[in-house]
Amino acid sequence: MATGSGIDSIMKEGRKFPPPADFARQAHISTEARYRELYDRSIKDPDGFWLAMARENHHWFKAPTRGLEWKSPDLRCFADGTTNLSFNCLDRQIELGRGDHTAILFEGEPGDVRKISYRELRDEVCRLANVLKKLGVKKGDRITLYMPMIPELAIAMLACARIGAPHSVIFGGFTSQAIADRLQDAGSHVVITADGGWRRGKIVPLKENVDAAADLTGMVKTVIVYERITQSRDRKGAGGTSGAPSAEAAQFKINMKSGRDHWWHDLMKDASTNCPAEPLDAEHMLYLLYTSGSTGKPKGILHTTGGYMVYTALSAKYVFDLKPDDVFWCTADIGWVTGHSYVVYGILQNGVTSVMYEGAPNQPDWDRFWAMIEKHKVTKFYTAPTAIRAFMRQGREFVDKHDLSSLKLLGTVGEPINPEAWIWYHTVVGKERCPIVDTWWQTETGGILLTPLPGVTSTKPGSATRPFFGIDPAIMSKEGKVAAPNEGGFLVIRKPWPAMLRGIWGDPERYQRQYWDEIPGVYFTGDSSRCDEDGYFWIMGRVDDVIKVAGHRLGTAEVESALVSHPKVAEAAVVGFPDELTGEAIAAFVALRSGNQPSEALETELKHHVAAVIGAIARPKALRFTDALPKTRSGKIMRRLLKELATKGRVDGDLTTLEDFSVIAKLRDEA
Ligand code: WT7
Repeated sequence: MATGSGIDSIMKEGRKFPPPADFARQAHISTEARYRELYDRSIKDPDGFWLAMARENHHWFKAPTRGLEWKSPDLRCFADGTTNLSFNCLDRQIELGRGDHTAILFEGEPGDVRKISYRELRDEVCRLANVLKKLGVKKGDRITLYMPMIPELAIAMLACARIGAPHSVIFGGFTSQAIADRLQDAGSHVVITADGGWRRGKIVPLKENVDAAADLTGMVKTVIVYERITQSRDRKGAGGTSGAPSAEAAQFKINMKSGRDHWWHDLMKDASTNCPAEPLDAEHMLYLLYTSGSTGKPKGILHTTGGYMVYTALSAKYVFDLKPDDVFWCTADIGWVTGHSYVVYGILQNGVTSVMYEGAPNQPDWDRFWAMIEKHKVTKFYTAPTAIRAFMRQGREFVDKHDLSSLKLLGTVGEPINPEAWIWYHTVVGKERCPIVDTWWQTETGGILLTPLPGVTSTKPGSATRPFFGIDPAIMSKEGKVAAPNEGGFLVIRKPWPAMLRGIWGDPERYQRQYWDEIPGVYFTGDSSRCDEDGYFWIMGRVDDVIKVAGHRLGTAEVESALVSHPKVAEAAVVGFPDELTGEAIAAFVALRSGNQPSEALETELKHHVAAVIGAIARPKALRFTDALPKTRSGKIMRRLLKELATKGRVDGDLTTLEDFSVIAKLRDEA
């Protein structure tokens, strides 16, 4: 949820920004009438609309004749068609004459740059696909990818998609327990990783984390290790690496377990670049992506091939108005759905250049992104509100140092954007020339559902505006009553769409409960929202136990179970509270086991413990010790009270003492 002041100003926001005339003139969709026509058709005749899109823009081994088949809660889309998404991202682009065009433009944190053409990308993908087959990987096997933001991550995804082995990408910022949980849940025996990656000038010990995760589960039979760090030391220049080997890299070592671990470059040496794409059923599982929900166990969101393929390609084309010469940069890590859909699949299917950057936005300084936009002549830039707020705080000098005249469009995603940040993005980065697309969607939705179309929609700062083709959103009460204009309620989607999740891996009951039982008959997003008199949607934030820290999704229960895994902790409760920079931050309330005393040292230790168990993004910003947690008679933690406390505590200064707190807890309990 946005900061308190952000929400206040969203409520008051009344400005409207029509699409810049120059942009509208050249856009794929440039009139309201055209948007209406396509939108109305997509709602009135979804099968006709989606089948036409599928046939016109994609290669099918067998063309589909069936559209969306919905038997709640199960969706099938293009069910009688066979295709291959890797083929559509690569071979089809080469057939269309894009073979020598740059598919991936990569910049490593140390400054190394690689440009990989569509043809080169296909060759690498085919080689890795052959390697996987040789290692015994079969269609349907889940492959875990835990890598830095380097081209080899995209290569690995496309190799998996080529042979029909679903991938499960784990964000490189997660640590061993999080990896182990996901490996276990997915039943995955093969891991592709790297020795390490660069982040803020330091090495992220990816392989070491995989080793620890493998020890925790005993699941892992095969590990493929790409040499990212040691390459710059031992084989400088190979693979285009130019980053000077640092002192840290010179010291860096990993262990290779014989029989289990293989070097990527050893396996790839003799692999053939010929690997025909496997014709797959449209409903063949493409990937699992774990995300947080309201229980401690992350859920494996399941996406399939055909519908996801068509939806991500079409939304990328129209939302970002992609043209052949675009250099598109989505700054999201591929470990999140944004990276899946709009670094890799949706973007490559449009035959344009996708930029990948390995490291931190402030390495070596706060102008890194702007320097890259200038250097690579980036035309479309898609990032998160939390990043924009961080840049804003550093001051516009960092932006003004660079020539950003290549930019044509800006986008945001991940959390509500406060109007102040929107206006800053619009004026300082976009020089008032570039339309901004504020895109609302979720891991579950596969692609963008609410968004302006940049050549048509007048934007209002803080609103994700209107539905994309085929999307039928509404604001409802818990009882399923549609809200009046500007009345708050739950955001729901009334019709299935092609890129919708097909389930939660191994847990159909949770899938039914979480998305379809809350308000019968509609998809429940978990967000609260309102829709204004122009039909524009304004997202307020989550209504469940999901916290959005810097746009990253975390479950309170996950952080709580990390805390109670510490031997000194008896009980813990975690809530989100507003933070100016990260939107929300984590506050933890901790009751210690008897015999332990609260101390600053223990506070630091516990915060560190959470970061070590889950990853740095889960580190609580505030941690307060308490004798007891406030609970209802039935033993449910009173989160609303804790949230109030965490939020107010920040405003008033730390007035709430330990004793007061337990008194409140007791009082409430007895009330
Ligand atoms: C939640 C989904 C899908 C991209 C990355 C996040 C929030 C996402 C917006 C936006 C306001 C937004 C919602 C949503 N959210 N985009 N433009 N405006 N809120 O995916 O991690 O699955 O999180 O992010 O709360 O439910 P995710």
